[in-house]
Amino acid sequence: MCGIVGYVGEPKEKQAKKIIIEGLKRLEYRGYDSAGIALYVDGVFETRKHVGGLENLEKIIGDEKFNSHIGLGHTRWATHGAPSDANAHPHSNEDNTVTIVHNGIIENYLELKEVLAEKHGVKFKSETDSEVIAHLIGINYEKEGDFLKAVHRTVDMMRGAYALVAVCSHEPDKIIGVRKDAPMIAGIGKGCNFIASDIPAFLKYVREVLIIENNETVIVTKDDITILGSDRKPVSRETMHISWDVDAAEKGGYEHFMLKEIHEQPEGIRETLTKRIREDGMINLDGISMTKEDIDGFNKVYIVACGTAYHAGLVGKHAIEKMARIPVEVDVASEFRYRDPFVDEKTLFIAISQSGETLDTLAALREAKKKGARVFSVVNVVGSSVARESDDVLYTWAGPEIAVASTKAYTTQLICMYLIALFMGKVRGTIDEKYYNEILSELKAMPEKMKTLLAQEDKIAKVAKKFHRKENVFFIGRGPDCGVAYEGSLKLKEISYINSFAIAAGELKHGTIALMEQDTLVIALDTQDCLFEKMLSNIVETKARGAYVIAVAKEGHRDIEVEADYVIYIPDCRDEVSPILSVVPLQVFAYYVAKERGCNIDKPKNLAKSVTVE
Ligand code: M6R
Repeated sequence: MCGIVGYVGEPKEKQAKKIIIEGLKRLEYRGYDSAGIALYVDGVFETRKHVGGLENLEKIIGDEKFNSHIGLGHTRWATHGAPSDANAHPHSNEDNTVTIVHNGIIENYLELKEVLAEKHGVKFKSETDSEVIAHLIGINYEKEGDFLKAVHRTVDMMRGAYALVAVCSHEPDKIIGVRKDAPMIAGIGKGCNFIASDIPAFLKYVREVLIIENNETVIVTKDDITILGSDRKPVSRETMHISWDVDAAEKGGYEHFMLKEIHEQPEGIRETLTKRIREDGMINLDGISMTKEDIDGFNKVYIVACGTAYHAGLVGKHAIEKMARIPVEVDVASEFRYRDPFVDEKTLFIAISQSGETLDTLAALREAKKKGARVFSVVNVVGSSVARESDDVLYTWAGPEIAVASTKAYTTQLICMYLIALFMGKVRGTIDEKYYNEILSELKAMPEKMKTLLAQEDKIAKVAKKFHRKENVFFIGRGPDCGVAYEGSLKLKEISYINSFAIAAGELKHGTIALMEQDTLVIALDTQDCLFEKMLSNIVETKARGAYVIAVAKEGHRDIEVEADYVIYIPDCRDEVSPILSVVPLQVFAYYVAKERGCNIDKPKNLAKSVTVE
């Protein structure tokens, strides 16, 4: 989704253009449809913006010198107003004294726009909600004669979510940012400082980061970063050291980030486990404040998330119900918050999110907290909003996930689900030592098993080549395999634009089977020993209507070849943990289908990596 980079450095060095464009490139993975930059040159902030990729922006600014030491950059993902040059950020007021970039949505922008047009005769240059902010700051500056006061006065008039970053030619050596429900961070450089929506934007120059909290203001100059709390008084903030490298966010020889991230899964799983398994082999939830008393007191678990993270929740439900014997509801975050859910002090609310910034998930978390639930989260991005607003966090150690299609975040989320289930089961006394140890050793074996599975990549690529022209694909499964079917289907549709559909296999006969005809492609997950035969019957049902079936099954179930047309085998493992493996061939299949179809795999159309609007 939208990305922000602000930079202020030594006036004599004049590096702003280069550094800001570099930063925007690092944020491309978030998804965007236009980009722009504003640089301070000869007393004014000069703005250039262009619809499309950064290369378009670079073309129009390539020859211009723009010797500047301060500026803002933005990548926009359209909400209000189509992608266009005019709607791209930055936006300025009419006399060009104030320039802003904004992530989020201003809910009362129509009201504000009307006042600006009627009372102040403002002529708008774009259809965006964001432009009103620049005009308002300009008008408020005339009243206050002070940039910071003008920003605060403006923010007090706005409703909605924002990471707002502004510059003003009357006070040209500072950048002011205000945050509400959209991520914002500041970076401490050497002789320069940064403000951004995401760490990779400035990681090449900065290791020490300050997280800006909700309703806080940050004033960034080349020598100083001042944070003001919601009461607008200075607050002190500890810096966070970023240890991961910018290279971790590079492709490392792979053609796409998605493929690289698929192959990083064994390592991500190993990392996630290593951080949480003690030398004696037991799960260590150090730093998690949930006590035995808390766990015994829960009468229900709610898992809430979006997209792929929601699918991790579907698998997590099976694990937690089986091991901890407690009812689990799984909900998509955008539905949860608006239906007055049954949540109270006896509810354990688990939010799952790779980015930790998904607005729907964050809003659901807040709703659950308001109702008294204990909030636990499974998050990949350290220090993100979901992590900070939770009572406890179990991090996935997948490393930065750049491709829009989530892969390594998903499998590490599954690992966390099993750790939670095992831990709760042990505390509640619903599993014995033997079972606990068996599942733990199954989890520890996953990285190696996954590597042998990934060695089948070429074979799966060939299957993908054969079927890449299909326009409809069905994914079916039972039990935990059903969650995997949903995830496989999402992977395929989001990167290849094939219309794919996932359904619980037993539900086929209640309607969807009407769509089966000669050569319909069905991908059947059949990795549960206890449901193997039931699933086989479902495969036969589709075959009887002419479907071509690709099955995913365990090595030990070679008998499936009698019914399925093609089988991808995963290494043998216990039923409970098979989703960690069975999703991998589906990720690889989706990747190669999309590649055959010539799709933009890492940045699929209409999608963003981090969805920070409702
Ligand atoms: O950052 P989050 O895990 O909260 O994101 C949730 C979804 O937006 C995300 O999983 C999305 O569905 C992915 N594109 C799927 O590959």
